[in-house]
Amino acid sequence: MERESKVSMTVIRRLPKYYRYLGELLNKGINRISSQELSKLTGFTASQIRQDLNNFGGFGQQGYGYNVDELKTELGKILGLDKCYNTVIAGAGNLGQAVANYKGFEDAGFKVLSLFDKNPKLIGLKIRDIEIKDVDEMAKFIEENDVEIGIITTPKNNAQDIADIYSKSGIKGIWNFAPADIKVPETIVVENVHLNESLFILSYFLKNHILPEGGF
Ligand code: NAI
Repeated sequence: MERESKVSMTVIRRLPKYYRYLGELLNKGINRISSQELSKLTGFTASQIRQDLNNFGGFGQQGYGYNVDELKTELGKILGLDKCYNTVIAGAGNLGQAVANYKGFEDAGFKVLSLFDKNPKLIGLKIRDIEIKDVDEMAKFIEENDVEIGIITTPKNNAQDIADIYSKSGIKGIWNFAPADIKVPETIVVENVHLNESLFILSYFLKNHILPEGGF
């Protein structure tokens, strides 16, 4: 843990991509890969990949490359994917329901136990087999069900209220989709997701590709 905490965020943010490609390789029955081959797949240079993985002890062998299964397992451990997390979703509208509907999160170990909303028309409905409950019951539910991750998919004006409930009821990490800078105690980790930032980057690339040389 000590060593991992010193690894830069830039490296940490590349690990899920390695993890995903290694999973795809395993699905194709490939169990050995060189850093050059990984480089072709991921778009990172081979030396970058070796440097990244050296932060955690290397894993590769000169002249052999990497054992895909072993490397995926080790990266999974580093990312904390070797355990399951109980999660809840606050805000059972379009996005909250979409997140609950996606079984892939559950397959990766993130189980949505319940959605919570304040709209009486939604309370009692089910998304897959996951019930939407009254947000007033959320704190108690979190405490009683060992919930570690709270997801925020409410409008931005309600995001801080939800973050406060999460903070007080023992949530350890918040996956925040609301476009709001929530404040929480230092012991809680917040990961903000902004799909539109990614979309704006796409727009940037489109703009720059369609410009004639020396444009503007
Ligand atoms: P929506 O209006 O369909 O759903 C919001 C839900 O939150 C509603 O069901 C509403 O009743 C509920 N709600 C409001 N206050 C609440 C409270 N105090 N406690 C519990 N539930 C409460 O909205 P939509 O489209 O699902 O978007 C949800 C949030 O996600 C918005 O903040 C939106 O800006 C954000 N968003 C973020 C994206 C991203 O990339 N991060 C992409 C799309 C949406």
